[in-house]
Amino acid sequence: MNWHITEEQAAPKPPKARGINVAVIGCGEIMNIAHLKAYQAAGITPIGCFDLNAEASAKTAAAFNIPRIYKCLEELVSDENVHIVDIAIHMNGRREAFEACCKHGKQILIQKPVAHSMAEIEQFVQMSHTAGVKVQVNQQARWAPTHAAVKILLNRGAVGRLNFIRFEMRGWQDDPNTWYVRQKNMTLVDHGVHYFDLIRFFAGREAKRVAAMHASVPGQKHISPVIYSAVIDFGDGLTAEHCFNNKVMTPEPWGMNIVLDGEEGSIFCDFETVRLQRRDGGPLVFTPQKKWFPDAFLGPMADLMDAVAENREPACSLQSNVGTMRLVFGALESAETGEFVTFE
Ligand SMILES: NC(=O)c1ccc[n+]([C@@H]2O[C@H](COP(=O)([O-])OP(=O)(O)OC[C@H]3O[C@@H](n4cnc5c(N)ncnc54)[C@H](O)[C@@H]3O)[C@@H](O)[C@H]2O)c1
Repeated sequence: MNWHITEEQAAPKPPKARGINVAVIGCGEIMNIAHLKAYQAAGITPIGCFDLNAEASAKTAAAFNIPRIYKCLEELVSDENVHIVDIAIHMNGRREAFEACCKHGKQILIQKPVAHSMAEIEQFVQMSHTAGVKVQVNQQARWAPTHAAVKILLNRGAVGRLNFIRFEMRGWQDDPNTWYVRQKNMTLVDHGVHYFDLIRFFAGREAKRVAAMHASVPGQKHISPVIYSAVIDFGDGLTAEHCFNNKVMTPEPWGMNIVLDGEEGSIFCDFETVRLQRRDGGPLVFTPQKKWFPDAFLGPMADLMDAVAENREPACSLQSNVGTMRLVFGALESAETGEFVTFE
């Protein structure tokens, strides 16, 4: 078996669909540094944008040649030329934007985490089902070429039966001038959702139970804990261990180490490289040219465009994202109660 992976196999694919128009809500940091850069590289230009801050929408429109600036949400969702609405705002105003898109039959790409409670997520699922609207959740880490390569290797059976996943994340987001520090449970929920989602993506099935602990450290600016550790039981011999320290004080705090151990070997993945070491042979090393930021942000949008054209569910639909959010909120509940949280 040849385990070789090409750049093309692992990179997010441009959409096959043509003539599907996008409008964006929220012209803040992530829209500018990631969404629109990835779309621009693939030749996708939104037809309009809206931000409560008129200066932000004007700057974004100018930077990415977006022809129309909407004055309000209603104007955007009433534009019959818009097929997909890309929502990248915080929790304030999200429900209103989501509801308006559903009411006007717009397909939705929504930033993770979709909401801050399971009850609200279930309501969003219900709203979109009733409206017959497709919703893709922007878990774009799945489309980072390194993570896509890990999934390709797992699907090919490169490590055989998967037994153990270890996922260590390190970073620093304790800047008092950012929204991060003021967002409740930012580290575990808003940021950690990427890693819980990746673990579930690699596991390929739903978690049975989770236990976690979290901690605040003296002097931190965050209103909630900046460090957590979790253990996840996927049943049938597959377990995972995940930790994230979001207050690493070294000059370059960011680091990620993922190890996936199976019956036939192991996969090692960091920000740059994927390495496969099988028990019967030498290592395969894959270092993709394309990166998570901003390249992966093409993935969820391109897939949603194709899903709309082909009338199928998007790859990371809101319905399918429910398993990830259960895991995230389960970990949070466990960290708060000190008990394992078991899923049905
Ligand atoms: N997927 C990722 O990797 C990733 C990374 C960063 C942020 N995010 C998510 O993206 C969202 C935005 O984060 P950000 O860092 O860009 O924040 P930001 O504060 O830089 O930008 C938010 C923008 O939304 C605008 N806004 C707020 N409420 C609005 C409303 N009701 N209608 C229209 N515009 C409104 C603000 O004026 C601002 O320009 C958050 O939910 C965050 O969790 C995801």
